[in-house]
Amino acid sequence: MLRQKVFLMLLCFFCGSSSVSAQEPNTPMPWAYAINTPGVEIDFAFNVPRTVPDSTVEFVFTNPRNLYQPPDWHPQDHPVMPSIVANGREPVVFACGYCHLPNGQGRPENASLAGLPKEYILQQMADWRAGLRRSSEPLHGPASNMQAIGANATPEEAEAAAEYFSSITSKPWIRVVETDTVPETVVAGWMYVDAGSDVIETIGNRILEMPEDLERTELRDDRSGFIAYVPIGSVNSGEMLVQSGACATCHGVNMKGLGPIPPLAGRSPSYIARQLYDMQVGNRRGLWSPLMLSAVENLSIEDMVDIAAYLSSLEP
Ligand code: HEC
Ligand code: HEC
Repeated sequence: MLRQKVFLMLLCFFCGSSSVSAQEPNTPMPWAYAINTPGVEIDFAFNVPRTVPDSTVEFVFTNPRNLYQPPDWHPQDHPVMPSIVANGREPVVFACGYCHLPNGQGRPENASLAGLPKEYILQQMADWRAGLRRSSEPLHGPASNMQAIGANATPEEAEAAAEYFSSITSKPWIRVVETDTVPETVVAGWMYVDAGSDVIETIGNRILEMPEDLERTELRDDRSGFIAYVPIGSVNSGEMLVQSGACATCHGVNMKGLGPIPPLAGRSPSYIARQLYDMQVGNRRGLWSPLMLSAVENLSIEDMVDIAAYLSSLEP
């Protein structure tokens, strides 16, 4: 049986066929590892005072994308940020609060950190330091940045950030909408945005996570969340996969986390899908990743879409 399989693979290698058989490995899902569409940029006004709804803060963006100085529009929403979260440390260790937002709710191209167990955050930082976590898509800029940050952050900086983010309660952030069709999109700022055309596309086997309000998201307003368009039926199918996979034995009742094991409820479906894939192909192979091996090894891309759709639809 095994010999026959090897023989078939050799045959296929020599025939140069590109036909996809059920045994061929998955490849990274472009929608989860969204890469900026060349030539597309979101308009953004620098050097003028900006505000967001329900905030008394005024912020002037002087330097396009200064990753050491995220705006904090709602300081009353979260504890006082340690300096590594508020300002980072030059060089390379950008402010955690810039990408993950001051309240830790995160964005599709990164991850939510609010309410993750402290021990879990520390383990992830240790895994990056040891070179055990990397993205399956080297062109995904935010993940490469995180890899560099994780490799360079000191244990003391990781400790301060982990203490901070684990102390925050995560809130509902993603509205999951099942649909057959989606507007035509482009990727800008590492996320899907409406292309502004009248073109309607079929969603197919993808999830498109888009800002509820592009302007507020671009201003990094940590009170403005996301919509996830998911295929019709995916939430139910995902629930069945999560039940049959007994994921709750480790991830806790309603997937809200258990001890040091991370919660998955209400988190970004793009992030969840990237992790399932990265663990399946071994690009994420931290100290605790072996516990996930049997859960991910046989998942198809469609399974990952369904699981991510279901998990993000849950109350965090
Ligand atoms: C430039 C943007 C950026 C900055 C700044 C940043 N991160 Fe991240 N972070 C990411 C991205 C992107 C991911 C998800 C990587 C992936 O999808 O593979 C991530 C993921 C994480 C995770 C994994 C969450 C999980 O559920 O496993 C942790 C922990 C984390 N970051 C901690 C930090 C800390 C601590 C800081 C500050 C020292 C920081 N990050 C700064 C982009 C950033
Ligand atoms: C035996 C315990 C166990 C089971 C069962 C389990 N997990 Fe996990 N899961 C873990 C651990 C531990 C981690 C952290 C892995 C690491 O640190 O690399 C994790 C991480 C994850 C992550 C990444 C979370 C993040 O914040 O980056 C996802 C997604 C996930 N699991 C989904 C699932 C799904 C879906 C199932 C069921 C099909 C499942 N897990 C079953 C233990 C488990």
